[in-house]
Amino acid sequence: MKEANLRFTKLLVLVNCAVPAALLAWDAWNHQLGANPVKFAILTTGMSALVFLMLTMLVTPLRKISGLNWIISFRRTFGLYAFFYACAHFLIFFALDRSLSISGTLSEMAKRKYLIVGSTGLLVMVPLAVTSTNAMIKRLGGKRWRALHRLAYVAAVAGVIHYYMQVKADTRQPLAFMGVLAILLGYRLVVYLRQRRPNKIPSNARCKANLPKKLSPTVVLDRTFPSHEHVEPKSPPNLPL
Ligand code: HEM
Repeated sequence: MKEANLRFTKLLVLVNCAVPAALLAWDAWNHQLGANPVKFAILTTGMSALVFLMLTMLVTPLRKISGLNWIISFRRTFGLYAFFYACAHFLIFFALDRSLSISGTLSEMAKRKYLIVGSTGLLVMVPLAVTSTNAMIKRLGGKRWRALHRLAYVAAVAGVIHYYMQVKADTRQPLAFMGVLAILLGYRLVVYLRQRRPNKIPSNARCKANLPKKLSPTVVLDRTFPSHEHVEPKSPPNLPL
C-alpha cells in the first residue's frame, strides 16, 4: 500500500474505533441510555473492550494468511482501544455503580467471581499499554517485548471467561466469542509447533527457496527484529537479513 493511502487508512481506523465511545457519550448526553443507564454503559464498554481485544488478536493471523503486511499497522491501535474501553468499563462500574467505594468494589468482587476474572484481564493489559511505544520496544529488546506481549492472550481469555460467567441465561454469544478465540489461539499454536519441527532440509537451501528477491520494509524489519512487527518504517531500513 502507498504511504499516503496507509496514513489515510490509519486515520480512518483511528477515528472509527472511537465510534462506540462517541455514540455512548452522545446517548448519555441526550438521556437515551434506557431505564438503567449505568448498566447500559457498563455493557457497551465491556463489549467494545472484548471486540477490540479480538481484533488485536486477529491482526497477525490475517496478515500471515493474506500476505497484506500493512494490516500490522492497526494492531497497536486496536490494542490501545481495547485498553481504553476496558478502563472506561471499570471506571463506570467503580464510579457510578459502586460510588467510588473501594470497600464496596472489593466486597462486590468477593460476591461476584467474574469481577475478579475481569480485573485480571484489565490488570494484565496495563503493562501492554505502557510498553506499546516504539521507544519501549527498543528499550526492552525484541525477545523480552514479545514475551511480555503474550499477556494479550491472557487478557483475551480472561475477557471471554468474564463475559461467559456473567451471562445469566443465553450463553450463545459468549460461546461464540470463545470459539473465535480458540481458533485464533489454535492458529498460533500450530505456527509455533511447525516452527519447532526438526529441520530436514539443509538450512541454506531453505533460505534460498523461501526468500523472495525484494522484501517489503515491514517484512525486512519483522525478520530482522521480530518485536517491531507493528512498526511501519518510513523508508526501507538498511538492515542485514
Ligand atoms: C479485559 C477486561 C474486561 C473485559 C474484556 C470485559 C468485558 C465484559 C463484557 C463483554 C461484558 C458483557 C457485556 C454484554 O453483556 O453486552 C461485561 C460485563 C460486565 N463487566 Fe466486564 N470486562 C472486563 C473487565 C471488567 C472489570 C475490571 C470489571 C469490574 C471490576 C468488570 C465489570 C463488569 C460488570 C459489572 C458487568 C455487567 C454485569 C451485569 O450487570 O450484567 N469488567 N464485561
